[in-house]
Amino acid sequence: MSAGDIRQRHPDGNSNLDEDVVSETKHERKTSGRWIGPFFTALVVSIIAMAVGFILMPSPVESEEFILPDPPELSGPYEPNDILKYAERLYSGKLQGPESIVVDGDHIYVGTADGWVNDIYKGEVRKLVRFGKEPCGGIENENTCGRPLGMRMDKNGFLIVADGYFGLFQVNVVTGDYVQLFSSSTSVNGKQVKLVNDLDFGSDGKIYFTHSSSKWNRNQFPMIFLEGVPNGRLLVYDPETKVVSELMDGLLFANGVQLTKDKSAVLVVETLKARVWRYDIKTRKAFIWTDNMPGFPDNIRYSKSTGTYWVGMAIIRQKGSSLIDVLAPKKWLRGQLAKVMTIKTILSFIKMFSTSGTTAMAVELNENGTAIRSIQDKTGEVIERVSEVESSNGVFYFGSFDGNYLGRLYTKRIPGFNNKNT
Ligand SMILES: *[C@@H]1O[C@H](CO)[C@@H](O)[C@H](O)[C@H]1NC(C)=O
Repeated sequence: MSAGDIRQRHPDGNSNLDEDVVSETKHERKTSGRWIGPFFTALVVSIIAMAVGFILMPSPVESEEFILPDPPELSGPYEPNDILKYAERLYSGKLQGPESIVVDGDHIYVGTADGWVNDIYKGEVRKLVRFGKEPCGGIENENTCGRPLGMRMDKNGFLIVADGYFGLFQVNVVTGDYVQLFSSSTSVNGKQVKLVNDLDFGSDGKIYFTHSSSKWNRNQFPMIFLEGVPNGRLLVYDPETKVVSELMDGLLFANGVQLTKDKSAVLVVETLKARVWRYDIKTRKAFIWTDNMPGFPDNIRYSKSTGTYWVGMAIIRQKGSSLIDVLAPKKWLRGQLAKVMTIKTILSFIKMFSTSGTTAMAVELNENGTAIRSIQDKTGEVIERVSEVESSNGVFYFGSFDGNYLGRLYTKRIPGFNNKNT
């Protein structure tokens, strides 16, 4: 067909036949318009009504604003690197969420999402003890199953475990027998002790431990963030009197605990403020030891081989794209989001945070809390996330709150990686 043909046909377009078609189309449009109009009006009205209804619905939380400084530039000690790619994954698929690790001779102890404290011996994962009861495995069952989080070996060879739901336990690693030292159902200073998280020992055998919230359980943890009310604490258990007392309050997700090398102070991670406190045992005063970390810190552990403290980043903060940073000052929005937090949405929340392909990072701090180095996996290929760095004779083990393996890194394999003793 040529252009001429079209031009010639055009005048024919005004034939009677075509006119009928046109008027029919017009008619159709008119009829459909007759109901599309009201339909859209009804739709818009109901969307607005639903939105208004949703907004008027009371939020389960009265959210508070909290301020986070802009995340630090990824330079200096945070310079992107792929040192964690020298690591390897052990026991893939045999461990779900080994958050905390204790290495003791030939044994490695890890607590997992199925509620078990496991004893890994000669390459075999053995279930040692569980404080709750079946059903286990799903986050919805954690209230009755339990979730071992922080763990340490005391000087008498007992494994002391902080279970997120039940409290503190002293475990005989030979028999699996245990004694509950502190029950989470006990209030301290009139406030509930929820989400018992991590622990360490003072020189006198006292157990310094954190709980992340006075209101929310571990399987409700996004609520701590959405509410933004800092009511996590540092507590201390006295084995002589069996009394627990409060040392610090007002922490927004209190997490990792580590005594300083000289045992004069307790380092306490405040996850949602991306910082670490130093609580002086003698003066009972606390100050911020390290601030504005490049991620949300989880556990902190002293490493003898490097003579420094290592902090695992649960979630990386990136300028402009860190959801927690963006929502921190928006308390109204967080209050709205809290309305849709069911176990199901919490699970998708976790999935959202757990998507691999983001940077895994652990940060090394010197005795003054200054960051001096970081080890990273930029793409999360080998190590997806670090909840804890447990160091044993220059070998690092990495925990993860949701990975299904134990990470291991021989630091001597890393070119230029300085260990204190090498
Ligand atoms: C820590 O601070 C003290 C006091 O300012 C200083 O003497 C010491 O050298 C610092 N340590 C490091 C590793 O920088």
